[in-house]
Amino acid sequence: MSTTLSKAVHSEFQQLFGYEPLLVRAPGRVNLIGEHTDYNGGFVLPAAVDKEAVFAVGLNGGAQIRLRAHDLGESLELANAAEISPSETHWANYLLGVAAQFQQRGVAIPGFDCVFGGTIPQGAGMSSSAAVECGLAFALNQLLHTEFDKMELARIAQKAEHTYAGVQCGIMDQFASLFGRDGQVVRLDCRSLDYTYFPFDTQAARIVLCNSGVKHSLASSEYNTRRQECERGVAVLQQHYPEVASLRDATLEQLAAHRAELGDTVFRRCTYVVQENARVDSACRHLEAGDLTAFGQDMYASHAGLRDDYEVSCEELDVLVEAAQAAPGVFGARMMGGGFGGCTINLVAPEQVEGFIASVSAAYQERFGLTLETYQTTIVAGVGAVGATVTQG
Ligand code: GLA
Repeated sequence: MSTTLSKAVHSEFQQLFGYEPLLVRAPGRVNLIGEHTDYNGGFVLPAAVDKEAVFAVGLNGGAQIRLRAHDLGESLELANAAEISPSETHWANYLLGVAAQFQQRGVAIPGFDCVFGGTIPQGAGMSSSAAVECGLAFALNQLLHTEFDKMELARIAQKAEHTYAGVQCGIMDQFASLFGRDGQVVRLDCRSLDYTYFPFDTQAARIVLCNSGVKHSLASSEYNTRRQECERGVAVLQQHYPEVASLRDATLEQLAAHRAELGDTVFRRCTYVVQENARVDSACRHLEAGDLTAFGQDMYASHAGLRDDYEVSCEELDVLVEAAQAAPGVFGARMMGGGFGGCTINLVAPEQVEGFIASVSAAYQERFGLTLETYQTTIVAGVGAVGATVTQG
């Protein structure tokens, strides 16, 4: 956790509002495998990582909502917490959307103040928006004594994204931010919401992220389109196989049998999802067996599917994965998150990390003339209050 940042957020809150806040941290996430499967009732394998958002939040005893984005140096005030609606101020919507979801659940939202900042790069596919939503949801839950459990907080945060940010996301990002555990990845069944933790040995492989720096402006509209294409696929299959409630239930044979009816695009989207679900399963077995080479092969196959069939990659991400594949000591690499830019995730042998970063950076510079930003991440615990030791002094 960034102690410097939480101290800065804490002291800005005290300067602006003059009372003692609750301090909360909320991590971003990586996803080892299982992309675009969450909203298809499938499986994902994320972990919370040490790039985090930090919040200072308090109830102000009045009706006003006062928000401060520490990193941007911007503020927003609302006169009446009882009348929350979407804002023109982009960053505020992640917070207001959460407060609105509490109201949807019958909770009266009193006036509150919030200062937040973070170290999660935006548009990097590391779920900076989910971290912001989850952090405030956790803080309000504490301050208002609403006692929503963590899964309900994840749903609140997800719904905030749907309603105030306009992205029909699945639940992976919010789940990972809230349920992360130190040193462990977690496989989530996005239909039953059952989950299992797996230790991830960073002595055997490091998780290195390479940020393409590309922030595709079409990302959220294309995301919603993919979701619709999957729904169309399910609707077609259901006419023949009523038991298919989501692509989770579909098989490659069923898709092949109705290829013409599905049409080429929907067929390829659905094929990718069915294959990716199977890959999460196989990757988890490899992880348990300690076979990182086989795990990495599943990651490369995931990238190929995202690139060719799901079509959410871009040239920059493809070049980064190719460069990783050519570097020594890399077990696997793929694009991560929604796509159209953001990061690749790479599993790299610890003693090769330096060489890996040097060679991929050189390849990126040569091809695009761009300086590559990389992050060596560690796996941390999910959302929580920041301890007293950090808030003092
Ligand atoms: C975004 C969404 C998630 C998930 C991923 C793709 O991060 O927020 O719900 O769908 O894309 O796996």
